[in-house]
Amino acid sequence: MFNKKTIRDIDVNGKKVLVRVDFNVPIKDGAVGDDTRIRGALPTIQYLLDHGAAVILCSHLGRPKGERNPQYSLKPVAEYLKGLVSNPVYFADDCIGESAQKAAAELKPGEILVLENTRYYKGEEKNDLELAKGLADLADLYVNDAFGTAHRAHSSTEGVTHFKPGVAGFLLEKEIQYLSSAVENPKRPFVAILGGAKISDKIGVIKNLLNKADKVLIGGGMANTFFAAQGYDMADSLVQEEAIETAKEILAAGSDKLVLPVDMVIANAFDNDAEKKCIDAGDVPAGWRVLDIGPKTVECYSKLVSDAATVVWNGPMGVFEMPEFAKGTFAVAQAVADSDAISIIGGGDSVAAIQESGLADKVTHISTGGGASLEMLEGIVLPGVAALEDK
Ligand code: 3PG
Repeated sequence: MFNKKTIRDIDVNGKKVLVRVDFNVPIKDGAVGDDTRIRGALPTIQYLLDHGAAVILCSHLGRPKGERNPQYSLKPVAEYLKGLVSNPVYFADDCIGESAQKAAAELKPGEILVLENTRYYKGEEKNDLELAKGLADLADLYVNDAFGTAHRAHSSTEGVTHFKPGVAGFLLEKEIQYLSSAVENPKRPFVAILGGAKISDKIGVIKNLLNKADKVLIGGGMANTFFAAQGYDMADSLVQEEAIETAKEILAAGSDKLVLPVDMVIANAFDNDAEKKCIDAGDVPAGWRVLDIGPKTVECYSKLVSDAATVVWNGPMGVFEMPEFAKGTFAVAQAVADSDAISIIGGGDSVAAIQESGLADKVTHISTGGGASLEMLEGIVLPGVAALEDK
């Protein structure tokens, strides 16, 4: 249950509404790459415009660390947005101060103003309240629709609510509803698939999901550390030595639920064109390294996914950036798409796999949050959400 007020609960007619969006999208040579996050915010933006508001959008982009670095400008995003909405879109080259105030004051209902990167100010990441007040003063109302940044207590996500009470946008509401109901109140069997290189990035998630899920399937580099913890020689594979003790604890606590690969694709170099072969899980021959899950694992994981009623997937099963070792990840994408379960995918590579396979519309929910969705899976209350008005 989502217990925060949303834009449905407030009157926005004739108001200036500051909306924190997550427009932290890839920009290459001045052009927007994957636009999922921009499109994800459109229902909120359009609702506000259609209900008579003037919409002021603020966001960070990248990590400019308090410098005005044009590489991280939101101007290309404002230009891109013009192609997605029929309403006028303006851009202010600052997020507070005179130029932002003037542009905000002149903005009329039905118009959009995109502010420059909030992280051009060092104060943003420190949740500086002066910056927060500068942002809040631009508008009558504050809306947070930046799910991808809701795990950050920053001036534009948390600080601003000290000056203007905040409500949630539709994207934030949808993300929290899907992720929290999957974790807290899942239809069972609930199967979680976790991949990626390092156990240390996901210890909290694994521990929480071992409590909540019926099975937790492990893939990617982190599986190696679990095998090393069981005493296998992983040869040249990526093993996180410092996480071996934690891996042992997790194995001891979660042995009935944790599922490790039964076979693996190994290669004699970290190279897409390396010699490769498939072996059963266990010792890896000297000079070789694990780079993907094997076909028996794909079959086993696919069966568990097809029997599930809820599936949550975060993280690749192998070295996804090399096509030869992306097969396990693509096979899992196919299994998730084929299943009748409520399926939720988060994390860059797993989302990319489902999109590249053309299977995105076969999944119940694709999260726009990386770190934020992981923190939800870990059971953490996100500060950007906690700061909003209760229903
Ligand atoms: C993300 O891309 O995960 C969010 O936009 C947050 O960005 P950050 O990790 O730089 O805070």
